[in-house]
Amino acid sequence: MGIKERVDRVYSSNNNQELTKNYDIWADEYEQDLIGDSDYLSPEKVADFVLKYVSKSCKILDAGSGTGLAGKVLYDYDYTNLVAIDISEGMLNKARQKNIYTELYKQVLGETLDFPTNFFDAVICVGVFTYNHAPSSAFDELIRITKPEGYIIFTLRPDFYEINQYFQTKMTALESSSQWQFLERGEKYYSHPNTNSDTILEVWTYQVISLMDNG
Ligand SMILES: C[S@@+](CC[C@H](N)C(=O)[O-])C[C@H]1O[C@@H](n2cnc3c(N)ncnc32)[C@H](O)[C@@H]1O
Repeated sequence: MGIKERVDRVYSSNNNQELTKNYDIWADEYEQDLIGDSDYLSPEKVADFVLKYVSKSCKILDAGSGTGLAGKVLYDYDYTNLVAIDISEGMLNKARQKNIYTELYKQVLGETLDFPTNFFDAVICVGVFTYNHAPSSAFDELIRITKPEGYIIFTLRPDFYEINQYFQTKMTALESSSQWQFLERGEKYYSHPNTNSDTILEVWTYQVISLMDNG
């Protein structure tokens, strides 16, 4: 089974239980598929925006960390205050072996997150907002746990964004209600350039609005 088939399998998960199982099964081969065979670009692309906005001492949540590929790139850029959450214990176990996160937890985006309000300086979410993965409602909790003026940086497939009204509506509504402000939508890139996968992604950056600005 190649990366395209494995991606299709996780995309076709019918519920969180199936999704978790599919990632638990994939955990051992995930990195070989993503970096060994496909030159996965998202971690570096997201890091470009983190480097632009977030200082090195900041506390960053890697939400949907997987095996820690994005966290590792940040760590190598001297971001060492990193926390990971993921729905899959199998993926988290791989991430734990990297020794780059101060804490790792099994938590589910779309449900209440077990962190205090205004806790993180920034959140990254790489490859997690997509077909049958984390829902757009997860943004509410990500905003709650991010400090005012902190950053939420995530990847989205433009095709998914265009056809998924939930994401467009939610992202716009959060802006209209002054929960966050849009900063940037990065250029389109092929996430797996060395494979037959034609997945295109963009990095979106928002800043959480401070309570004072919010009245
Ligand atoms: C495509 S992988 C990306 C992993 C990592 N961020 C990377 O870039 O390599 C998606 C990850 O999101 C996790 N995930 C999917 N839905 C989730 C949810 N609702 N809550 C938490 N994690 C989720 C999966 O278990 C998987 O590890």
